[in-house]
Amino acid sequence: MPIQWFPGHMHSTQKAIAERMPEIDVVIELLDARLPGSSANPLLARLTGGKPSLKVLNKQDLAEPALTALWLAHYQARPGTKALALDAGETAPARQLIPACRALAPLRGGMVKPLRVLICGIPNVGKSTLINTLLGQRSAKTGDEPGITKIEQRLVLANDFYLFDTPGMLWPRIEVERSGYHLAASGGIGRNAYDEPEVALALLANVRSRHGDRLQLRYKLGELVGLSDEALLADIGRKRGGLLPGGQVNLQKAAEIALTDFRTGAWGRITLESPEEFLQWQAGAAAADAERQAQRAARNKRKPKQHATGAAKAPSD
Ligand code: G4P
Repeated sequence: MPIQWFPGHMHSTQKAIAERMPEIDVVIELLDARLPGSSANPLLARLTGGKPSLKVLNKQDLAEPALTALWLAHYQARPGTKALALDAGETAPARQLIPACRALAPLRGGMVKPLRVLICGIPNVGKSTLINTLLGQRSAKTGDEPGITKIEQRLVLANDFYLFDTPGMLWPRIEVERSGYHLAASGGIGRNAYDEPEVALALLANVRSRHGDRLQLRYKLGELVGLSDEALLADIGRKRGGLLPGGQVNLQKAAEIALTDFRTGAWGRITLESPEEFLQWQAGAAAADAERQAQRAARNKRKPKQHATGAAKAPSD
């Protein structure tokens, strides 16, 4: 089933970002380097009115370097856009954000026209970690909880460089079905919004196609050829003590093990999508949407016209 997660407080965050935009010069979008396309907010350009944008591919230490390079080139090719890859915990790479933002808004800077930068990203992408690194201290986490939606936290990174933090946010409809799975696998989606075994199965199907050897090594498995994804998940459960009384495999536990291992990098550096693949998925989702709309329009056309309901009119004679 497609995964969707857009709780009410994210709607408020979206509104708060739109209201703040007139005072913003550059927008930093923090992406997960393991799923850059899926973790990018498809509504952001519209929401920010096309302001200059810095795409930061965070958690690059968990992603495949060759694919990160492709994603950086993909974003760099866009007008008014720069891209960087980093680990939010590392100070020197994080500080590169400052000159990159300055280059995107060269007319701003100095005490009279300080550079005003807004940072946004999905939940758990590493925004608090990055901000703490930039400030060299622990700052309060901009809550992803309901009620904490105001963009009031102005962080001063230099005398003429202000950073506005925002709570983690997704978007009302995740159009590419795989993106929902990738977001859930990364930890960007609330746990109640998805079924862990289903997400683990989608993750294993993706990872085994290029890195089956790593799964074999990690869980001491035999040959994967001919093994279904379900059987693979069950084997992981069996190897890791995920058994129910009676010896049946606890698929929930097996899924949690697989997801935690992916999230913590225990399978090595893995990127779930390339720019080319992601563009194909997007095009497929757009075509399916167009098809659904055409079918709906055709159905509506065939339906007999409904008369307006209301007080019944007395038949005239
Ligand atoms: P958020 O504010 O965007 O919600 O994310 P936050 O900084 O809380 O980071 C979410 C998780 O991602 C944290 O792990 C954090 O340590 C980890 N993280 C952030 N940036 C990076 C990175 O560049 N590389 C790696 N490998 N991990 C990163 P956690 O286990 O949830 O918390 P903790 O154990 O670190 O406290």
